[in-house]
Amino acid sequence: MKNTLIAPSVLSADFANLRPDIEMINESQADWFHIDIMDGVFVPNISFGMPVLKAITQYAKKTIDVHLMIVEPDRYITTFKSLGADILTVHYEACTHLHRTLQAIKAEGMKAGIAINPHTNVALLEDVINDTDLVCMMSVNPGFGGQKFIENTYKKITQLKAIIERNNASTLIEIDGGVTDQNARKLVEAGADVLVAGSFVFSSDNPAATIANLKEITK
Ligand code: DX5
Ligand code: ZN
Repeated sequence: MKNTLIAPSVLSADFANLRPDIEMINESQADWFHIDIMDGVFVPNISFGMPVLKAITQYAKKTIDVHLMIVEPDRYITTFKSLGADILTVHYEACTHLHRTLQAIKAEGMKAGIAINPHTNVALLEDVINDTDLVCMMSVNPGFGGQKFIENTYKKITQLKAIIERNNASTLIEIDGGVTDQNARKLVEAGADVLVAGSFVFSSDNPAATIANLKEITK
């Protein structure tokens, strides 16, 4: 039996009334809060920034998993630590000196994650896998919730799992984008450890029950 971690994405919560959604996640079987920060440059959308994250972390009682979809993330590592991030994930495609960035995140006492776009080959992670706590594999093009899952992801998970095992690394594989009850089990069987789910959770009639169901079918 596997303890797959479920990370609801706050991007699909009700921004006009965030607190009940935060409390729902606190009381649910969810493991992490997944927080999507977009700058309108790295991705063609702007989500929310520091004041909103501060408001969220004030009430959130679980691990704060921050996914930065921004250029030059090094500028904000200290800031995100002070706002309550436990895991800070930067995009492979946004970092010129990725190894340095990972070390800087860890020096702040956070877990360091790398997100990869659907076009980025997992083989590029081989030389940093032992420095990486989490790989956030994008299963949609980043920027928006509610997009269709890209099927090529399964193959990439298998390839990444092989790299992790070959290097005796303890890196977690997180899948982000288009996760539903239809693909969750198959993703875990391929090697996923963490599933992010935004629209599937928040557009359901009973988000807490949807989280519980995802937890159950990925055991
Ligand atoms: C997309 C974000 C995702 C998004 C997932 O760029 O990184 O975390 O919230 O949303 P769904 O689950 O609706 O695809
Ligand atoms: Zn995300």
